[in-house]
Amino acid sequence: MAYKTVYEGWKSDPEAFWMQAAEAIDWVRKPGRALNADRAPIYEWFTDAQVNTCWNAVDRHVEAGRGDQLAIIHDSPITHSTKGITYAELQKRVASLAGALRAKGIQKGDRVIIYMPMIPQALEAMLACGRLGAIHSVVFGGFAAQELSVRIDDCTPKAIIAASCGLEPGRVVHYKPLLDKAIELADHKPDFCVIYQREEEVARLIEGRDVAWHTFQYGIEPAECVPVSGDHPAYILYTSGTTGQPKGVVRATAGHLVALNWTMKAIYNIDAGDVFWAASDVGWVVGHSYICYAPLIAGATTIVFEGKPVGTPDAGTFWRVIQNHKVKSFFTAPTALRAIKREDPEGALIDDYNLRSLQALYLAGERADPDTIRWAQRNLRVPVIDHWWQTETGWAIAANPLGIEELPVKVGSPSVAMPGYDVQVLDEGGHPVPAGTLGAIAVKLPLPPGTLPTLWNAEDRFRKAYLTQFPGYYETGDAGYVDEDGYLYIMARTDGVINVAGHRLSTGAMEEVLSNHPDVAECAVIGVADDLKGQTPLGFLCLNKGAVKPHDQIIKECVQLIRDQIGPVAAFKLACVVDRLPKTRSGKILRATMAKIADGVDFKAPATIDDPAILDEIAASLRQIGYPLQKTA
Ligand code: COA
Ligand code: AMP
Repeated sequence: MAYKTVYEGWKSDPEAFWMQAAEAIDWVRKPGRALNADRAPIYEWFTDAQVNTCWNAVDRHVEAGRGDQLAIIHDSPITHSTKGITYAELQKRVASLAGALRAKGIQKGDRVIIYMPMIPQALEAMLACGRLGAIHSVVFGGFAAQELSVRIDDCTPKAIIAASCGLEPGRVVHYKPLLDKAIELADHKPDFCVIYQREEEVARLIEGRDVAWHTFQYGIEPAECVPVSGDHPAYILYTSGTTGQPKGVVRATAGHLVALNWTMKAIYNIDAGDVFWAASDVGWVVGHSYICYAPLIAGATTIVFEGKPVGTPDAGTFWRVIQNHKVKSFFTAPTALRAIKREDPEGALIDDYNLRSLQALYLAGERADPDTIRWAQRNLRVPVIDHWWQTETGWAIAANPLGIEELPVKVGSPSVAMPGYDVQVLDEGGHPVPAGTLGAIAVKLPLPPGTLPTLWNAEDRFRKAYLTQFPGYYETGDAGYVDEDGYLYIMARTDGVINVAGHRLSTGAMEEVLSNHPDVAECAVIGVADDLKGQTPLGFLCLNKGAVKPHDQIIKECVQLIRDQIGPVAAFKLACVVDRLPKTRSGKILRATMAKIADGVDFKAPATIDDPAILDEIAASLRQIGYPLQKTA
């Protein structure tokens, strides 16, 4: 009953709960109180404290005698190399980089964009920003120049730190030309760019703007940690919403430290000195919280993995990493396991490795399907823990808190609400529904420390997107239900967000790009079920009357347009031409109905539909491209 006691303890006195958790952090000035509700429903945490993120993630561990312990292990099957960095080395490297950034004018509050692949320098750049109180914004390498430029204009960075290239299997991702193009497209121009030259590709630097990572640190005085107030933004991370304009999720410094540190023990059962591995990317929230910050704040060893679950070189790569580095808790996306399962259905490669160090596998980022969970349970013989969270929350809303109590696993459920989250399922009118009834999932305000206090430069959008629909609650954008035991089931998004290979993408953003094609008059993008990636985007294109090109040609151009403007990560490869789109009488496109037709599941045409006959046309067009897919046994 330990979980219940902890959860009820939080509920009866949230202030005391978080003040207690705050004891584990090194403060420059201790917080006098936890919650600041002065601007409710905008809530902030530990606003009267002074603290530094980098100190808590790096320096304090060196002071405590962990200098010789590995802080980061870089394991790169793509470059066939493995390298460790101790806490003492990390401290030196980060202090030097921060010193060089400071010498070029970076100060507390300045924004710095980081555009880097899975190399330790990405974490060093994040920590160096934290050291100075600069606000970083990491942009995922699979985005195109256009997406990077949108982020440059939104957060107006003084500097951009990038690598010369990223490495995808069989392909070098030329970061530097993408960066140059993004700066050209953006209205805002950074003062300077720092380029980390990788051996695999040395980029041409632009004189007067670009400096090389090593040379600009030469002879520099290392920087000390700069204290910031508890509510100072540690970072901005852009995520997809309903429209093409990404949302800049703000993470405040003190709440981030307190909450992440709490999760390492309570959820992942990790102590200082343990090895923790999240196989994600620093460009996503999982990478921020569980590749970079949380393991380091807790004094653990984190793994930066530059590879894929399959093909680098085979479906045994994950098990090799776990064995070689003695990983205790491992976190990945269900898609990655599905990819492995497809290549190694019996899990034969698992037997080649000694996985005795592994205590549990954690899954998040998308719905974990029961088949995949059972496959992992059967083959790994450790608890398989699905947990549910979002970029906005920065840590799990629901989980099975192994470090508190291992609760019975219910396959298909990410288990129960974590302390800090009062999760409710609401009907359209905002009233809680009984157990077992589907509804919108919302969290009673205030959200706990570590979650977003607002969106960067967009407080109105923050209020409208999250706080308005259900006053007094944060609207998660997910729909689902709670069972009688309080276990949550996350079933679908309520907005235009789809989840492709654990990556969160906006169908609205794709529609904006497609409508720029000269022959496209109107379009809709939906997510259809995909055995490997969970969902995959599918576009419906209505063409202008005068369009003369063959449809195949137009579709090819549209696929290329999304790749060029959003990036390869959108994985947009499917589209069909239709005469008309099904709409309600008020003109709303019926995307959910189209998705049901494409997936071959039962549906009822909404009563508000303008012309039901269009649904037959949609079904016919889908059949031509092979949808609904034939289910394999
Ligand atoms: N930089 C540049 N391009 C990238 C990239 C990056 N960091 N990450 C992905 N891409 C590209 C890929 O090369 C691919 O390009 P292609 O169309 O030229 O082949 C495209 O984006 C789509 O990538 P992805 O969705 O990863 O598909 P894939 O077919 O290459 O791989 C999986 C399939 C299942 C192996 C892969 O999706 C995977 O590892 N998924 C797990 C993802 C994950 O951990 N998510 C967690 C987020 S919390
Ligand atoms: P992101 O912000 O990229 O982390 O994506 C968050 C979204 O991914 C959530 O709102 C859910 O729709 C989905 N998601 C994340 N984890 C889970 C999970 N464990 N089960 C179901 N959906 C999930």
